[in-house]
Amino acid sequence: MSHKIHAGFLGTGSYLPEKILTNQDMEKIVETSDEWIVTRTGIRERHVAAPNQFTSDMAVEAAKVALADAKLKATDLDLIIVATITPDTPTPATACWVQSKLGAFQAAAFDLSAACSGFVYGLTVAKAFVESGTYKHILLIGAEKLTAFIDWKDRGTCVLFGDGAGATIIGPVDEGHHQILSSFMAANGNEADLLKIPGGGCRVPSSKESIEQSLHTLKMEGKEIFKTAVKVMSEATLEAAQRAGLKLEDFSLVIPHQANIRIIQAIGERLKLDPNKLFINLDKIGNTSAASVIIALDEAIKKGRVKKGDHLALVAFGAGTTLASCAVRW
Ligand code: UT7
Repeated sequence: MSHKIHAGFLGTGSYLPEKILTNQDMEKIVETSDEWIVTRTGIRERHVAAPNQFTSDMAVEAAKVALADAKLKATDLDLIIVATITPDTPTPATACWVQSKLGAFQAAAFDLSAACSGFVYGLTVAKAFVESGTYKHILLIGAEKLTAFIDWKDRGTCVLFGDGAGATIIGPVDEGHHQILSSFMAANGNEADLLKIPGGGCRVPSSKESIEQSLHTLKMEGKEIFKTAVKVMSEATLEAAQRAGLKLEDFSLVIPHQANIRIIQAIGERLKLDPNKLFINLDKIGNTSAASVIIALDEAIKKGRVKKGDHLALVAFGAGTTLASCAVRW
């Protein structure tokens, strides 16, 4: 008799670098104010990695916590996926640096590039590998050193982003126990220009001129991204529910990508969700792109916001543009 494998969370962990930049610190860097940043975004402070601390270092710290939580060793891992847009190096993949630092030599390793949706995209990928029986223990990480890719003269972006990492081990679970019930991924390449790092790829190879024009830093059409984010993240939350055979009201917690508190509140209003069901931690960490949803999930678990049997929605939207969601039964 065939036995269906269910994929789910075996452990979680996160890591935030020590140094904190407050809005008052930002006031000394660009022409901005704590009042503007708080009212327009909800962000009060963000963590910044040390100059010699890379995306892989933060990823490894988060991974160690997730491995301990899952009671597994690095050598138990079959695959490492690092979702990031701020890799240590264009090649090799950050996942390979992580594999070496962890000593996870049995594991295959690759990076996943789906910007802020990267971690939730990764959940779909990991779920498929586990449920097909291809891999048993997958280390999925969202990690970013965004402060290395920011134009510190552009007040429209530099106040938004922070550094950090979150990790989980995805593996076989008993049905309904920490299980990923449904997953959804989408993309709209026609919106690729809205949020991008224009330089450093083969279109605009790094040169003296590209550096002078700051083309290796993140550029964003904030207003356009904002409007799309509200619409499509609302739709994706519904999609995750429907694919899991759930209703929106079954979710006891929705963990959205942490880009802007006004985006999260607008999603809540569109979906008529109780505001207490929306998890928010961007005030303390800003937008950490691919790390955002897993850092938030780990914090929600550790704060006791997630109880056995709860239904959760994880939803993210980012550059690409990309969109992803999952329904989880804890
Ligand atoms: O993670 C991937 C997805 N990313 C997102 O979802 C981000 C989506 N976008 C946003 O969150 C918002 O669009 C922003 C927070 C980026 C910007 O907020 P906004 O309400 O859309 O402001 P805006 O860009 O329309 O700018 C309004 C005004 C402008 O001044 P004028 O032209 O009206 O005189 C800006 O120059 O605010 C000014 N401004 C600032 N003022 C003080 C922009 N940034 C700042 C700042 N401090 N940091």
